[in-house]
Amino acid sequence: MNNKFTIKSFQKAKDEGRKISMLTAYDYSMAKILDEAGIDSLLVGDSLGMVVQGHDSTISVTIDDMIYHSKAVTSAAKRALVIVDMPFMSYHTSITEAVHNAGRLMKEGGAHAIKLEGGVEFAEIIRQIVRAQIPVMGHIGLTPQSVHMFGGFKVQGRSLEQAQKIVDDAKALEEAGVFAITLECVPEKLTKVIGKAVNVPIIGIGAGNDCDGQVLVSNDMLGMYSDFSPKFVKQFANLSSGIKEAVETYIKEINDKTFPAKEHTFMIDEEVINKLY
Ligand code: KIV
Repeated sequence: MNNKFTIKSFQKAKDEGRKISMLTAYDYSMAKILDEAGIDSLLVGDSLGMVVQGHDSTISVTIDDMIYHSKAVTSAAKRALVIVDMPFMSYHTSITEAVHNAGRLMKEGGAHAIKLEGGVEFAEIIRQIVRAQIPVMGHIGLTPQSVHMFGGFKVQGRSLEQAQKIVDDAKALEEAGVFAITLECVPEKLTKVIGKAVNVPIIGIGAGNDCDGQVLVSNDMLGMYSDFSPKFVKQFANLSSGIKEAVETYIKEINDKTFPAKEHTFMIDEEVINKLY
């Protein structure tokens, strides 16, 4: 039986009232663990600019970075739908360049779908990418690539003007053909309005409970990234303290010579050793 999660599964899950789970992944080992745990969708997010590359925003991430990480994640994903972010300036300058770069994520990166940030202003670009048979997920609300326009990573949609813009963005994305929308960092009452305004599944991050699914940056929810922790992140584990403890024990065992032990060591016949000169 084919139990792969596809873009059709997004709509089916919404129609059946089953919540969609999504997490970011950037490498093979982590993607394999998340896929085996039963996650519906893996996002190769451009958040890798912060949590993998150590920058203070996602702006410097390139299309080649995304392809590199996408290859690793798609190699691991047996069931999850792999969605890959289009980085800053990879879809902004022309429709031709946008379609070309979305195509590279699919052909070279093995992506099953792509995600891009922006609403009304990007509707035509999205329409053309979808026309090229590339499934697109939209991303509105707090769009991290626009951090300098927003003046920081801030909740969006609290004023009437902003809130109306986000509702208009959601409608424009649906009309352009997205299969789902990521809605980031908006008040939960606004999420409810948007959920009524469009039929496509809404995947929230900091958008409250009235969404069709949730997404988080895995490094945040696993307690592996402490440089910046938004209010909407819940830490489901504290892996950094587990890793630190393991590394301290490793250093100690190297020093007191309890590692490597017999079971980690290769043997050779004494006869061979004795014949060496
Ligand atoms: O890049 C990313 O990880 C994202 C999530 C925050 C949704 O876009």
